[in-house]
This record gives sequence, structure tokens and C-alpha cells, in this order.
Amino acid sequence: MWKWIIILCMGFSTLLHAEPKILAFAGSTREDSANKKLVLEAATLARQQGAFVTVIDLKNFPIAFYDADLESKEGMPSKARQLRQLMIDSDVILIASPEYNGSLSASLKNAIDWASRGEAGGSSREAFAGKIFGLMSASPGQGGGARGLVHLRNIIENIGGTVLPQQVVVPNSYKAFDSQGHLKDEKIKMEINQLIQAAIHQRR
Ligand SMILES: Cc1cc2nc3c(=O)[nH]c(=O)nc-3n(C[C@H](O)[C@H](O)[C@H](O)COP(=O)(O)O)c2cc1C
Repeated sequence: MWKWIIILCMGFSTLLHAEPKILAFAGSTREDSANKKLVLEAATLARQQGAFVTVIDLKNFPIAFYDADLESKEGMPSKARQLRQLMIDSDVILIASPEYNGSLSASLKNAIDWASRGEAGGSSREAFAGKIFGLMSASPGQGGGARGLVHLRNIIENIGGTVLPQQVVVPNSYKAFDSQGHLKDEKIKMEINQLIQAAIHQRR
């Protein structure tokens, strides 16, 4: 009896301390995107904190705009299915979103819309519920893209994701990274570290 209790406790402890799985991507598909650089910085810092990180580029996930007719005729596009599965397989999802006209990019919104559907159609919360989301943004303006994060936060919370209250904002993005694509400001790196720490701490 005691032997089984000990084995169960050990299994539970292993589960609790298993390497956190993080999926990280930017809402910009631009080659020299500041948000992609921000994602790569966050991925490096997360790996240093012991996380298993998968970084993807939405450019490699070209997905038709959500269309209910397309969905009912052809089902979920394969790239949308792949992206949704990557989200389902993650504990934590880090997103760096550009700000377009005070909101998130169309490509990011479209990806979220598809991920909020089930493979057989209908709404599904599997890619969001129980996941911890850490939000970041970079923009050439003084606001750093923070206005877009208000919308992004609201959307993710509405579909069941847990969004960390803290977020990371990088203003003056054209000058914020060095020629190697690394953030110059140590304070922002510290904020990213804190965001990741909070995400790992909160995951189920
Ligand atoms: C359609 C469009 C709208 C934009 N609107 C905003 C905006 O509201 N606020 C802002 O700070 N930057 C705005 N920008 C500038 C983007 O922040 C800038 O292009 C940024 O570099 C995009 O992110 P990236 O470097 O990750 O590609 C806009 C750019 C585009 C193309």
C-alpha cells in the first residue's frame, strides 16, 4: 500500500516539475520583424529557465481567411490544424503582436479564429482553455504597440485563455535591437524574464 502511495507521489511530483512546453510566435510575418526578434529573445530566455520552447513563424502557416463555407466544404486547412495542435500541445503560449491601427494584425486574428474552431467544425476552446498566455509587442512608436495588446488580451480571455496581467512592450523598435537582433535594453530583458517566470509558475 505504502509503496503505491510513494510511486503515485513521485509520479505526481514529476508531472508538476516536468519541463514546461512553450510555443512562441509573432503576429508579424515580415522578414525583419521586430516582433519576431522579440520572440527569439524571449525563447532564449525561456530556455535558460529550463523550458522546452518551440518557435514558429506565421509566414510558414499561410492560412486562408476564415470562411464558414470553406470550413464546411473542405474542413480546417492543414496549416490551421498544425498550428492549433501546436497550441494544444503547449502549456504556455508567448505572442509578440505588432500594432496595426491600434489593434492586432489580421494574420494573427485569423490564426486565432481558426484555432478557436474544432477540426469537425464548431467552436472549440482546446487551444486556449488551461493555457497561459504571455503577451508582448514591439512598435516603432512610443506606445510600443500596447494598444493592440488590449484587443489581443480581450480576445484570448473571451475564448478561455488565461492571459498574464503583466506584459512586455518595446517602444522605438527600429532602434531597440542590435545588429545581431538582440535587445539592447537590459530592463526589457528583465521584464521578459519575469513574464516567463510567471507563466511557468502559473501553468497547470
Ligand atoms: C496597416 C498598418 C497599421 C499600423 N498601425 C500602427 C499603429 O496603430 N501603431 C503603431 O505603433 N504602429 C503601427 N504600424 C507600424 C507597425 O508598428 C510597424 O510596421 C512594425 O514594425 C510592425 O511590426 P514588425 O516590425 O514586427 O513587423 C502600422 C503598420 C501598418 C502596416
